[in-house]
Amino acid sequence: MQPMSASESSRRLFLKQAGAAGALALTAVNGEAVAKAAAIEQQAPADDPAQAASRAKRMAWWHQARFGMFIHWGLYSVIGQHEWAMEVEGIPIKQYELLAKQFHPKPNAARDWARLAKAAGQKYMVMTTKHHEGFCHWDTKLTDYCAPKQGPGRDLVREFVDAARAEGLRVGFYYSLMDWHHPDGARCKTDPEARKRFVEYTHGLIRELMTNYGKIDVLWYDVDWPLTAAEWESERMNKMVFELQPEIIVNNRNGLEGDFSTPEQEVRAEKSGRAWESCMTLNDSWGFNRGDDAWKTPKEVIANLVNCARGGGNYLLNIGPKPDGSIPEESVTVLTEVGKWLQTNGKSIYETERGEFSWNVNANYTRSGNTLYIHQQYWPGHTPAAEGTEFFQPEAVIAIGGLKAKAKAARLLKTGEAVKFTQDEWGLRLTGLPVKAPDQPVTVIAVECDGEPAIDHEAPRAHWPRYKAGVSG
Ligand code: GLC
Repeated sequence: MQPMSASESSRRLFLKQAGAAGALALTAVNGEAVAKAAAIEQQAPADDPAQAASRAKRMAWWHQARFGMFIHWGLYSVIGQHEWAMEVEGIPIKQYELLAKQFHPKPNAARDWARLAKAAGQKYMVMTTKHHEGFCHWDTKLTDYCAPKQGPGRDLVREFVDAARAEGLRVGFYYSLMDWHHPDGARCKTDPEARKRFVEYTHGLIRELMTNYGKIDVLWYDVDWPLTAAEWESERMNKMVFELQPEIIVNNRNGLEGDFSTPEQEVRAEKSGRAWESCMTLNDSWGFNRGDDAWKTPKEVIANLVNCARGGGNYLLNIGPKPDGSIPEESVTVLTEVGKWLQTNGKSIYETERGEFSWNVNANYTRSGNTLYIHQQYWPGHTPAAEGTEFFQPEAVIAIGGLKAKAKAARLLKTGEAVKFTQDEWGLRLTGLPVKAPDQPVTVIAVECDGEPAIDHEAPRAHWPRYKAGVSG
């Protein structure tokens, strides 16, 4: 991990604090859940009563979507050393601007992104329309530092929007408020005239994005340095956005609460249950970084996705296309594998609600109504313990202590094959499972229960039958 700059760390701190407030949001999988989510989301601290009132309805698709594709693509991709290169490497603006002439993506590269997203089981896409570098990917009237007037010679936002829609995916725009290129981008903090100009420029760019591309599903603000929400006139900004796009959802990075929180590079469920989306890189970089080989495995990606689903959150996973728009091979491999797994195990992800489960190194859990999904990431296999201990017979056994509902049936999600089990007040024992894991990289077992399943392996601790100090024989 790279050390964070003061502004970055204070921004993260701010995001943490902002994320601490909120009310309970639930996955909307059926009418009842929608109603429940509506009732609870109304209680969220609202920036604007109208936005709060429509929140549950606007966000219903998003709660069900679970998994989205983030795309970081810009002039920094031409350098291939992470999207912060301009600032981190101290590249002078005049030098950096030359990249705009060298940026020649192949036509409709976004179609491959969208096809991959679909195959990966992702339901929405969020692309950087303007990152901190200040280069705009769309046909803007407000600057000539934009794709149609530079190397690409065409509107890349249009291509992205068309590509996502062609695959039936929802469309999200990432927009960085911080701008390293605009002459007023820093002095706006101290010069009132510059602030006025820069805020108008910013609102104007957002207005174009919200006006010229049809229905946009998500607006994903980023880094509000150096201004406060009041200085950005963020309330007016959101008001304009909602006037132009009444069904949109917005995140919390323009200094306001917005509709959802944005934990970054970590899965952190909002304690209060406020809607949240964990955004994450596939290696260590958002923008294309030639030398970054720290790729996550499909198993790690699935583990993160399961963790998000368990906590009622979404997972926004990034790709950093190369300057020509092609996707690094490693990303394609990982996402394809995750998509294959989702084809058989998607039920345990998309249609789930937030659940209460103890930690378990070997397994994670999700739930949908009264169904418990056990995501066994480390399969037990053969254990010598089975030879002398009935508890581990017949092999293989997966045991879950502290299940707080009665199991009625269990099956392997991949094959539908029934799984035998026994249950007592201390826990559930699934028995006679194959010694070799039936699915890769994670096997899911669905357990139908007589009520909402929760797991608390600590609860039996105080009541567990104990016999004597010594072996009870
Ligand atoms: C951070 C980084 C930025 C990236 C974003 C994604 O804010 O500054 O480069 O776009 O995270 O969440």
